[in-house]
Amino acid sequence: MKNQSGVYGIDPVCFGPVNDERNLTNATDATKTGDIKTANAVAAPVIAESQLPQSDREAEHMQGHWVLAKLGKRVLRPGGERLTRRMLEHTPIAGKRVVEFAPGLGRTTRLILNAGPAGYTGVDRDEQVVNIIGPLAASVGGACVRADASQTGLADESTDVVIGEAMLTMQSERGKRAIIGEAHRILKPGGLYAIHEMGLAPDDLNDSVKDSIRKDLAKAIKVNARPLTAAEWRELLESEGFEVLWTGTEPMALLKMRRNLADEGVPGVLRIVRNVLTHPDLRARVMQMRRVFNTYGDALTGIAFVVRRRD
Ligand SMILES: C[S@@+](CC[C@H](N)C(=O)[O-])C[C@H]1O[C@@H](n2cnc3c(N)ncnc32)[C@H](O)[C@@H]1O
Repeated sequence: MKNQSGVYGIDPVCFGPVNDERNLTNATDATKTGDIKTANAVAAPVIAESQLPQSDREAEHMQGHWVLAKLGKRVLRPGGERLTRRMLEHTPIAGKRVVEFAPGLGRTTRLILNAGPAGYTGVDRDEQVVNIIGPLAASVGGACVRADASQTGLADESTDVVIGEAMLTMQSERGKRAIIGEAHRILKPGGLYAIHEMGLAPDDLNDSVKDSIRKDLAKAIKVNARPLTAAEWRELLESEGFEVLWTGTEPMALLKMRRNLADEGVPGVLRIVRNVLTHPDLRARVMQMRRVFNTYGDALTGIAFVVRRRD
């Protein structure tokens, strides 16, 4: 059996039942399979800059996603919310116990909660994230725990669905396996695991290009990002006991205006632009990331999979 002990001093966690009398404006409609609600039934958390992870660090030492968050970005995954929604269309949530790995600033959390799950547990290794997601989850009777996703402390076969976005790419090969293995352990047989990560294309991309991409990404985002090709992601998931039910891609357009308008809305983009203009240190980091994303253009994608635990 794989490690079940909690980390960071947390006890093994049980699922909190989602309250029957939730404050969901569309709760009665949210019973159909995969019926993800778009209405803001669970309100967006108001996040002060000081609440953000790494907000006290100098810009040059911050991880790329927290740089973007400090500038006002809230959707921190490569394929944007569009790929998230496509993925969730293939991931029935209503009436299911759901665990979300690495909820970040809670954009997908709200989609999950508004779809009427039977239980919700967020798992993030960052304390500030737990402080942001905790109240959101608690508003519907769920919880968020501080733990590494490779050692959640959750019981074997205790959940129906695991969802995790923009968090596997930043792990080593061993780290990716440990987290996928943990998803397998906590899922009941037949349970679904949905991931949304950074992809490389095409499948036969030259190894030296892959190496350059990994090195340049690591320098620009200060995270050892190791994106994989679609074939590599598939092979990894299959080798950890999953069968692939669905896969989809969207362009890796994290810093493109069109994507930001779609993900953050006009007020969000105006806030980001104002912050970029008034924070030269953060702007320098964004320009560096943009150069790398542009250099590798089509070789980088957002990629999502919905897979099923085989046994
Ligand atoms: C790029 S953000 C993505 C946040 C969110 N999923 C999204 O797509 O907007 C990465 C998140 O993964 C969390 N994270 C990274 N590695 C983790 C691990 N091994 N266990 C738990 N959380 C992790 C970070 O704390 C952060 O919240």
